[in-house]
Amino acid sequence: MKNDSVSQDAKIVTAAGGALAAVVLAGVVGALFMRGRGAYGPTYREATADAPADPTVFENVRGKMESSGGAAQLLSVTPETLARGKALFADSCAGCHGEGGQANTPVAAVMHPAPRDLTSPRGWTRGYTLAAIYQTLSEGVSGTGMASFDTLPPADRFALAHYVQSLGRFDHKDDLAAEAKLLDAKYHLGKMVRGPNKVSVPVVMAHMAAEYDAPGAIVLPPASDVSPGARLCRRLVADPARAADVLAQVPGWREKLDVFAETVMAGAPGNGFEPAAAVLTRARWRTFQAELAARTPVRR
Ligand code: HEC
Repeated sequence: MKNDSVSQDAKIVTAAGGALAAVVLAGVVGALFMRGRGAYGPTYREATADAPADPTVFENVRGKMESSGGAAQLLSVTPETLARGKALFADSCAGCHGEGGQANTPVAAVMHPAPRDLTSPRGWTRGYTLAAIYQTLSEGVSGTGMASFDTLPPADRFALAHYVQSLGRFDHKDDLAAEAKLLDAKYHLGKMVRGPNKVSVPVVMAHMAAEYDAPGAIVLPPASDVSPGARLCRRLVADPARAADVLAQVPGWREKLDVFAETVMAGAPGNGFEPAAAVLTRARWRTFQAELAARTPVRR
């Protein structure tokens, strides 16, 4: 009998980790809820003279169907393309390849294989035609520090390819017609693609707040109530609102003792409960659970 109760208590303690995830989730949802209510207030706000526009507020936009133009168009270079490529290169590439493309950076000195010297025709793995550079940017070079940049839109990858070529004053041996055909076939560049949807943050917040009803706080018993359950509540509930919030995220805490105990112990006192609960016997846990169940409003 004694053994049995020890092993059950041990089970409660070891299972505490599992409940941590639930409590962390509760915290995140709670924080989002507070944001939804507090910081953002109404769903949409107008920009006025004294209140600058909130950049997270804009009309929801369904992604447009847009043609990426096809490779032939992207293979021709304009001053704008080069300027775009230069800016992207400074942001994402110069750290390894150097501002001028000579790969003379501190990072390059310790990389094996070293980043390519883009100013020289020597030693390229995939090649320096526009199509080859586009492929490098789309797929990376496996087994090296050269990652894929396929999160950049195709037009940006082409802008980078043009800029990379502009760094090397040697013949890049392009055959644009053949490259256009190859790229269109491999990357479907002429196909219509849907641009990204844009949903403004307050709209998301409002949805989340609507789905999440805040439970009422636990009603602590008055000091005059000296029943064992009432005493446990007063002693072990550190923050009645927070504790109710946490319990509301945990289905079954009213019925299952282990679930209840795990929830109370995981994350105390941040979860609204006192860490002292850890020393309760199983019988006392039951008393505490029953008392709290009676004192915690049921979520709507
Ligand atoms: C973390 C460092 C790093 C960053 C950042 C980086 N590269 Fe590289 N890059 C490398 C390395 C390493 C190689 C050599 C790969 C190899 O040996 O084939 C390489 C190779 C290349 C090559 C030549 C591939 C070939 O055929 O040999 C090109 C072109 C290139 N990078 C362009 C870029 C561009 C454009 C960017 C920015 C969008 C970029 N890289 C960002 C490390 C980097």
